Amino acid sequence: MGVDGETIASLRRYLEELKETGVDEIPRAAASREEQPVPPPEAVAPASVPASSAPVAEPQAATAGETLDDIRRDLGECVRCQLGKQRTNLVFGVGNPRARLVFIGEAPGRDEDLKGEPFVGEAGQLLTKIIQAMGFARDEVYICNVLKCRPPGNRNPHHDEIVQCAPFMLRQVRAIGPEAVVALGTFAAQTLLATKEPISALRGRFHDYHGIPLMPTFHPAFLVRYPERKREVWDDMKQVMALLGKKMPTKKG
Ligand code: URA
Repeated sequence: MGVDGETIASLRRYLEELKETGVDEIPRAAASREEQPVPPPEAVAPASVPASSAPVAEPQAATAGETLDDIRRDLGECVRCQLGKQRTNLVFGVGNPRARLVFIGEAPGRDEDLKGEPFVGEAGQLLTKIIQAMGFARDEVYICNVLKCRPPGNRNPHHDEIVQCAPFMLRQVRAIGPEAVVALGTFAAQTLLATKEPISALRGRFHDYHGIPLMPTFHPAFLVRYPERKREVWDDMKQVMALLGKKMPTKKG
């Protein structure tokens, strides 16, 4: 059966969208996905399968002027990857649809899957404190993840899951139009910046993310385990505050 021009055009838009998200290859076929090794956190920037061998995935091209509600509607009861069949809740994102600052993490954990909201567990509570220390209320910023559904047992996201899901995150960022983005942890930073550089080398300076300054920093879950590294995150957040012209909040009492 022939493929019509409209299908080809929407597939092309989809591939462009993926490329912009930082995904520059896609899995060869659904049947081989299970055999793919879990990418180590340092290796999320994809390697070698040419885009011409794309499986037919549902096009998800961004429309100019679309809103977060449009994107959420487009996701629907998403089962574009296997995670959709295992989740309790799809975790879209929370916060101000006109936020000046967007935080992007990896994927929902157990608490987030149960509640349907990103960063509500222990790491999330620490993130909320960091946000408040920056002089923002949690609902003044926007918080989301690269993946919208929880990988079982909090395993690393599989490449095909990133391919399906990451374009929605880019659309969210575009719909919001923030002045800055913070990528939380290795996975988010490497995926957004399409690099394999370690987070320790990426953090501490701004990178360009589709024309938006992006600051990579350590994931709050890492800070829960290594609280002595909070100083570095605070140094990163001070740079973000300076960029936003935000004064250091004064202590109450
Ligand atoms: N870790 C993440 O990366 N995202 C969440 O929403 C929760 C924990």
